Amino acid sequence: MIDSHAHYDDEKFDIDRDQVLQDCVSHGVTHIVNAGSNIASSKKSIELAAKYPFVYAAVGVHPHDASECDENTIDTLTTLSKADKVVAIGEIGLDYHYDFSPREVQREWFAKQIALACKLNLPIIIHDRESHKDVLDIIKSEKASEAGGVFHCFSGSKEMAREVLNLGFKIGLGGAITFKNAQKPIDVLRYVPLDMLLVETDCPYMAPEPHRGKRNWSGFIKIILEKISEIKGIDYALAEEATTNNAIKLFRL
Ligand code: NI
Repeated sequence: MIDSHAHYDDEKFDIDRDQVLQDCVSHGVTHIVNAGSNIASSKKSIELAAKYPFVYAAVGVHPHDASECDENTIDTLTTLSKADKVVAIGEIGLDYHYDFSPREVQREWFAKQIALACKLNLPIIIHDRESHKDVLDIIKSEKASEAGGVFHCFSGSKEMAREVLNLGFKIGLGGAITFKNAQKPIDVLRYVPLDMLLVETDCPYMAPEPHRGKRNWSGFIKIILEKISEIKGIDYALAEEATTNNAIKLFRL
């Protein structure tokens, strides 16, 4: 099974990162895509990919950190993207829930990083929180469908999912489908065809029930796959095989 979105560079793994990553292998995790949040985290992501055969890296600046971007950022990301096992630009996008960076600055750097991904022919990993309309507008105006990618931790409606799929993007689902009162993500899960679905933890965040609030890790992908198999009424093995193949294809692993 694949964890298509993780943050093992996060300080919450500082005490036992190596042990947790080794445990992933013994729990059947074959690939992990570690998403960058800023330049420092993108570098750490590349280091992890170099150290562990099953870890792949994405490089990018999260909307939270968009105000740290400057005239060197795109050049730096271009250089980082040439490192071994860099498979995507991400995570990039908009976050109007926290608004850690001014919205105008978030939009500027989301657009610039999409342009970079198109130029490099790398898929993008999109973060969209309470910013659905602007994310879709920028995706369209920047012709991001040329790069393709995934809406990670998808939080939109079924109607939005339809639009995202029409634009050729995959939908990433994780812990939220296991939460109590998770009607919206469950509706999305029912609606999204199996061949357009990725599974992810977003660890150390977003641990699924019954571990909600604790530190998440890729071993919990099993819980996500169990939920998908239950809701879609398919065999666990089929859910695992399909989501694994989808990620392998998207990220060319
Ligand atoms: Ni993330």
